[in-house]
Amino acid sequence: MAETSSFDLLPDEQRLARFMERIETGEKIEADDWMPEDYRMTLIKLISMHGISEIMGALPEKEWVPKAPSLKRKLAIMAKVQDEMGHGQLLLRVAEDLMEPLLKSREHIIQDLLSGKLKFHNVFHMEAKTWGDAGLIGWLVDGAAIITQTNMLNASYGPYARALKRICAEEVFHAQHGEAIIMALAEGTGKQKAMIQDSIDRWWDALLMFFGPGDASTTGTSKQDITMKYKIRTKTNEELRQDFFSKYIPRVLSLGLKLPDETMHFDKTEGLWKYRQPDWSQFKQIIKNNGPKSRERLRLREISYTSNKWVLEALSVRV
Ligand SMILES: [Fe+2]
Ligand SMILES: [Fe+2]
Repeated sequence: MAETSSFDLLPDEQRLARFMERIETGEKIEADDWMPEDYRMTLIKLISMHGISEIMGALPEKEWVPKAPSLKRKLAIMAKVQDEMGHGQLLLRVAEDLMEPLLKSREHIIQDLLSGKLKFHNVFHMEAKTWGDAGLIGWLVDGAAIITQTNMLNASYGPYARALKRICAEEVFHAQHGEAIIMALAEGTGKQKAMIQDSIDRWWDALLMFFGPGDASTTGTSKQDITMKYKIRTKTNEELRQDFFSKYIPRVLSLGLKLPDETMHFDKTEGLWKYRQPDWSQFKQIIKNNGPKSRERLRLREISYTSNKWVLEALSVRV
């Protein structure tokens, strides 16, 4: 909705009150609308991180395109990698519109990624060592992403909510693709079954970390509160992690796989899954680009960005 010029003349407190009223009534905020600075900055950070994680997230699976075990699997994983890059492009466009008043562009997003200022999701710093890992990424990482992203389908910021609608529809295919790989391995030889158990064992903590720390005291920030206050999302990190447990633990166990956490159980009285906390100091290290594959993947992105820069420059020349 385009705001009237009389709105522009209002003092900031009144504009904020009107803005909050719009959010409360479920009205969508659009790129050209007035918005408080912390709303804009929170969205830029969230959407840039999401967009860049889609792009960095394509890298572990890209490594499996030449090594996929059959033509059918190769085509499927290639299509998924392509989709993820597309999600990244879509989201970075949304972030760029928000950055326009700050005179910043995609160039700054990439520079921030390469300098370490802009973080990408912890799971994409991990090594995809086996075909089991490639399957697990689709099944459980995309599965986790569906849980966090559907929680933002009604985000107060219209362009993000609309982009997520399309992205989530494609993520469902990704999760099915991953599930198909895992099912085939689960029905296979002893060696294949051992391969997926090994993937679960190595990826479990990263999957728990995917949803972020449970409360602000762990990080010293209250990012969750800001996103919830502005109705960008509705559930906390812990609620999302619990949703993931409820959806996937029965599925993992039904395949005869074991969780690498003997303390994991559902507490009926509290209605919550009880689990062993991952090492959150390790999480902080990973997202600071000190994960197993952080440097290598950033280097790859940098090479691809610098060697393809001439295309961007050629396209931006006006004749
Ligand atoms: Fe994606
Ligand atoms: Fe995906």
